[in-house]
Amino acid sequence: MQVIAAVAELRQRLRGETGIAFVPTMGNLHEGHLDLVRIARQHGKFVVASIFVNPLQFGANEDLASYPRTLQQDCEKLQQCGVDVVFAPSERELYPQPQQVTVEPPPIANELCGAFRPGHFRGVATVVLKLFNIVQPQVAVFGKKDYQQLYVVRQVAAQLNLPVEIIGGETVRAPDGLALSSRNQYLSAPERTEAAFLHQMLAGMRQQMLEGASDFAGLERQAAQTLTGRGWQVDYVAVRTHADLAPPEAGARSLVILAAARLGKTRLIDNLEVCLEG
Ligand code: PAJ
Repeated sequence: MQVIAAVAELRQRLRGETGIAFVPTMGNLHEGHLDLVRIARQHGKFVVASIFVNPLQFGANEDLASYPRTLQQDCEKLQQCGVDVVFAPSERELYPQPQQVTVEPPPIANELCGAFRPGHFRGVATVVLKLFNIVQPQVAVFGKKDYQQLYVVRQVAAQLNLPVEIIGGETVRAPDGLALSSRNQYLSAPERTEAAFLHQMLAGMRQQMLEGASDFAGLERQAAQTLTGRGWQVDYVAVRTHADLAPPEAGARSLVILAAARLGKTRLIDNLEVCLEG
């Protein structure tokens, strides 16, 4: 496995390779990331992973400076998973000049997480397009853990006619249900125990929906209240349509429940797809 930091060197190395499958990450890798690498291996002949903590997608009060950077351990894990090339550029390499050209994501990028992280999805869309242009993959794999991100990336690829197939990987969870995340390590021991409740709450909402509960606004309110009562600071709990993340019309069957809430200083997100019979 090669680790390459320079765009020009990467382009040189990838010249002539076909069937490139790509997994973009910000590093500090866990099983969720490695699962995406395994999916990439199944879909491509040559696997590229990137590690880059993208300043463009962090807000001024967010954790850019403290975001865990563990390049050496990450590379060992990627090597074991059969990655061919790791692209790990510096900030200067990817942004040699101020990034004034950006990708304006669709309006949904201003809702849900976007309402609490202004500009976040513009930063994601812009770096993902840059990475796609550098790596030129046939396939790229993103996790459903970041459901809205996956949707935004799919829209960028579709609406800008990018020659890349976007594949979504299922969320990998700890045994107690907590979605794996690099940010989980910010949690204190009691917070870590409580953190599992987010998934349990979503699973409870899903159960009620499967049993016929149709007052989604009521379910959202109740869930937010429960979280608040347990000491969480809730950004949102929202039932949305799976296909476009819009609020569901009456009778919608393919849904997803998305939630974002903070425990202490740590912001956690999770989601659960719900397919109603009918
Ligand atoms: P990062 O948070 O490192 O995540 C990289 C990829 O791993 C994303 O597609 C994310 O959805 C996926 N992922 C994270 N936790 C997961 C889990 N528990 N199960 C399955 N997949 C999981 O997302 C980003 O980086 C950045 O926004 C990026 C796309 C790299 C652009 O900078």
